[in-house]
Amino acid sequence: MQYNIALVKGDGIGPEIVDSAVRVLEKIGEKFGHTFNCTPYLAGGCAIDACGVPLPDETVEGCKNADSVLLGAVGGPKWDKMPGNLRPEKALLGLRSALGLYTNLRPARLYNSLKEECPLRPDIVEKGFDLMMVRELTGGIYFGERGRRDGKYGPEAYDTEAYSVMEVERIARAAFDAARKRNKKVTSIDKANVLETSRLWRETVHRIAEEYPDVTVTDMLVDNAAMQLVRNPSQFDVVVTSNMFGDILSDEASQITGSIGLLPSASLGASKCGLYEPIHGSAPDIAGQNKANPIATILSAAMMLRYAFDLAEEADAIEKAVDAVLDDGLRTADIIGRSEGTPLTCTEMTDEILKRI
Ligand code: IPM
Ligand code: MG
Repeated sequence: MQYNIALVKGDGIGPEIVDSAVRVLEKIGEKFGHTFNCTPYLAGGCAIDACGVPLPDETVEGCKNADSVLLGAVGGPKWDKMPGNLRPEKALLGLRSALGLYTNLRPARLYNSLKEECPLRPDIVEKGFDLMMVRELTGGIYFGERGRRDGKYGPEAYDTEAYSVMEVERIARAAFDAARKRNKKVTSIDKANVLETSRLWRETVHRIAEEYPDVTVTDMLVDNAAMQLVRNPSQFDVVVTSNMFGDILSDEASQITGSIGLLPSASLGASKCGLYEPIHGSAPDIAGQNKANPIATILSAAMMLRYAFDLAEEADAIEKAVDAVLDDGLRTADIIGRSEGTPLTCTEMTDEILKRI
């Protein structure tokens, strides 16, 4: 089969990690007889430099017309002083919105071979964890009305959190559907003791839960969830939450897996075309030094094969190769508490993964 993939390498370590994932896709193509046609598009800081805007129309069109999008990361200190609507991050938000990608799946699990790298207490590590964070991605405070105005104490800024019933219903269904394929447990995270949006969130999630009698649902306040994630992460199966809470909690979840360099994500909408990207950022401090961990992006490519193209066997082959490199003790520099020896470069890690496919 032929698949058309839009490649959005972006900034910082984006190009290195996307190139690694493309090498993996090529290997999969050879082994299983597929052709992945990859077309690069600019977004983020590099697009600002080249065209003056973070998200050129051509990129949006290219991504919409592709079968799927693979993205590296955007942003960097060079563009930090740009006004809000011209920042590189606007490209990512714009793409998510333009493609209607309201569901963000962020799996986080503790690899057996990385138990040593987990910063939690041994008795907690022993139990392991394997959770799927389902983050709402096109609503909430990220996309609400914002601005500057004169307030009670002089000049002030505001951002608004708004959620419609429809937006909560569809992300709740995505979470319950995901739970049906896993351990049938959903934890819905909100701040219903304070926020009206959270109260609507909670009542809507419970109404949708009635359609899924085989799945259990528990509510948890976000401050408690932040604590529970490090106190007892094994209690979670599927976690569903708003855009901003999901952003914060997924970084926290990544740290207890050993490194943020390991976590992939899939952003999905109503159509099959989705956007696949690591959850980490552009890491400008190590950009261009061949030090980045390509695993999160390689696993994002695996999620693309599984979700966008229904290529489960091919996705398994990538995931098994990643398991194998980690089991063999191979580590890039980001994996905390790493054992002795020189860490592998981005290219070397990719080579090792390729050998195991
Ligand atoms: C993420 C990132 C983005 C977000 C930034 C870069 C806009 O942190 O994907 O988690 O906040 O969604
Ligand atoms: Mg984030």
